[in-house]
Amino acid sequence: MELSMAYPLLRAKPFSSFLIVVSLIASFGQLKSWPDALPQELLTLDIAEKIFPDSNATTLASTDFGNLTQARPAAVLYPSSSHDIAALVRFSYSSSRPFPISPRGHGHSIWGQAFAPEGIVVEMAALGHGGAGRINVTPAYVDAGGEQLWIDVLHATLEHGLAPRSWTDYLYLTVGGTLSNAGISGQVFRHGPQIANVYELDVITGKGEAMTCSKNSNSDLFHAVLGGLGQFGIITRARIALQPAPKMARWVRLMYTDVGLFTRDQERVISRDPDKLFALNYLEGSLLVDNSLIGSWRSSSFFSRADIDRISGLAARSGIRALYCLEGAVYYNEATKADMDQGLRLLLEELNFVPGFAFMQDISYLHFLDRVHDGELKLRSAGMWDVPHPWLNIFLPKSRILDFDLGVFKGILKNNKAMGPVLIYPMNKTKWDDEMSAVIPDEEVFYTVGLLRSALEGDLDYLESQNNEILRFCDQEGIVVKQYLPHYTTRGDWMKHFGPKWNKFLKMKMKYDPKALLSPGQKIFTFLEKNRLYG
Ligand SMILES: Cc1cc2nc3c(=O)[nH]c(=O)nc-3n(C[C@H](O)[C@H](O)[C@H](O)COP(=O)(O)OP(=O)(O)OC[C@H]3O[C@@H](n4cnc5c(N)ncnc54)[C@H](O)[C@@H]3O)c2cc1C
Ligand SMILES: *[C@@H]1O[C@H](CO)[C@@H](O)[C@H](O)[C@H]1NC(C)=O
Ligand SMILES: *[C@@H]1O[C@H](CO)[C@@H](O)[C@H](O)[C@H]1NC(C)=O
Ligand SMILES: *[C@@H]1O[C@H](CO)[C@@H](O)[C@H](O)[C@H]1NC(C)=O
Repeated sequence: MELSMAYPLLRAKPFSSFLIVVSLIASFGQLKSWPDALPQELLTLDIAEKIFPDSNATTLASTDFGNLTQARPAAVLYPSSSHDIAALVRFSYSSSRPFPISPRGHGHSIWGQAFAPEGIVVEMAALGHGGAGRINVTPAYVDAGGEQLWIDVLHATLEHGLAPRSWTDYLYLTVGGTLSNAGISGQVFRHGPQIANVYELDVITGKGEAMTCSKNSNSDLFHAVLGGLGQFGIITRARIALQPAPKMARWVRLMYTDVGLFTRDQERVISRDPDKLFALNYLEGSLLVDNSLIGSWRSSSFFSRADIDRISGLAARSGIRALYCLEGAVYYNEATKADMDQGLRLLLEELNFVPGFAFMQDISYLHFLDRVHDGELKLRSAGMWDVPHPWLNIFLPKSRILDFDLGVFKGILKNNKAMGPVLIYPMNKTKWDDEMSAVIPDEEVFYTVGLLRSALEGDLDYLESQNNEILRFCDQEGIVVKQYLPHYTTRGDWMKHFGPKWNKFLKMKMKYDPKALLSPGQKIFTFLEKNRLYG
């Protein structure tokens, strides 16, 4: 994926000066304004001076990227270490008046998943971005703080000629935030999602215990936390697999007018065994619903003006509104360039894109991975970043992708103006670990469809009702979809989402966060003062 217009940067400002200002202000008025929702005894803890109930702090923690909903916490904790976080959770857990606690990574959720209404938001960024002892690289893995941004993990590992294997499209997200979901991008078909590339975690459970877990030790916690939507513990460190970093990527885009040829080629690409045949390192794809999206490519550096005119012409000539774009990349170094050239040529000969409509660019590996950031900057400067994002991400079985195309892309979205990228790409279930909490469809190959649309000029209601229509369509047609970055509000919907995994999810919740303190913004478990979960 590439965002053809920019998104703004929310990286941490130098936190120390911010903290000094805030703490000066807070020390005057703290007792006076101490929120009723929080027990006064909190003020006796060492961490009290890092807890801010003032509106400057709580306003920031009341909003997220989605810009669809707000909820104010009673206060915000700016931790200096993971011990501060553990102290807070332990206090709430043993208090006669427990309160909810939510780690906030970079606030890039859509539906307030990192909110803690009437509770305390833990601003993970206060632990410090960009290393400073929180990112340690060895030849075999990187240990990264849960609060670290993936872009910083990338920079730190590249210094050693290494890099993680599996990514998200956008790198200004936190390690803890993406590992609580899955972390997907065009590498999933080869390496699995980010959660499948983790060796070990440090976690603070809902009882305030600091635990280390892996496949071999406390494995139930390890599996529960990965894809666990923040429900079992706060990730303070993740040990992530590395591979030698390539220097360059050849980035390829192939155009299709026929959805059947497009998906067949995508499936062909992901089924190639890289040990035996030349294979891509990255595969995604997108739908171009009309000329406005093609036009938005004008601001991207990938296509020349002439390319874009030809692509627009192709859409017009075919008399169709939908084009499909297969997006791939192969990584290479000087030493492997000749083999890559030849392998790619042979692969392209096998594929059935519209002849003459293959576009390529050579780009550094770093810029390839960070490609969405350019788009972010442009969108920010156009004032189009801080707008509502009614995004819908779903996984659906391969056997129904053509039905989905007909009903949704050629049906519900037929006359739509493009308002952001629509991603479509397949992956193989065998690369996912079914022990983990993340939920995927029950078919060997499944697709992700991401409708990453921005609402401009009051079309929010329209986009939201369209999202509902899409989900209703799938339901009526018996297309069993699973939401990625799921948003549900009733217990019944959550049980349906988790399906056979629900019982285990509940059992792990009882074991590791029995008072349902953590990440209440996911709206899976209702926080209860009665100190227990109810079903
Ligand atoms: C522009 C953009 C592009 C994106 N691209 C992709 C993509 O390509 N692939 C993909 O998979 N996702 C993508 N996402 C979604 C992203 O993975 C989610 O927004 C995710 O929530 C990470 O964001 P965050 O780090 O800001 O976490 P937040 O939104 O702050 O938190 C998300 C949830 O995790 C919990 N949480 C946060 N930190 C921790 C922690 N340390 N331990 C335990 N729980 C924690 C929070 O309480 C909350 O419930 C994208 C989002 C945006 C805005
Ligand atoms: C909030 O921030 C603004 C601008 O930085 C400052 O003027 C104001 O005094 C702050 N208020 C509180 C309560 O911290
Ligand atoms: C959305 O963003 C705008 C601009 O920053 C802000 O004024 C508004 O309060 C936000 N709305 C929500 C629901 O977060
Ligand atoms: C999915 O992966 C498995 C294991 O690598 C492989 O045997 C199978 O052929 C793959 N399926 C498809 C459709 O590519």
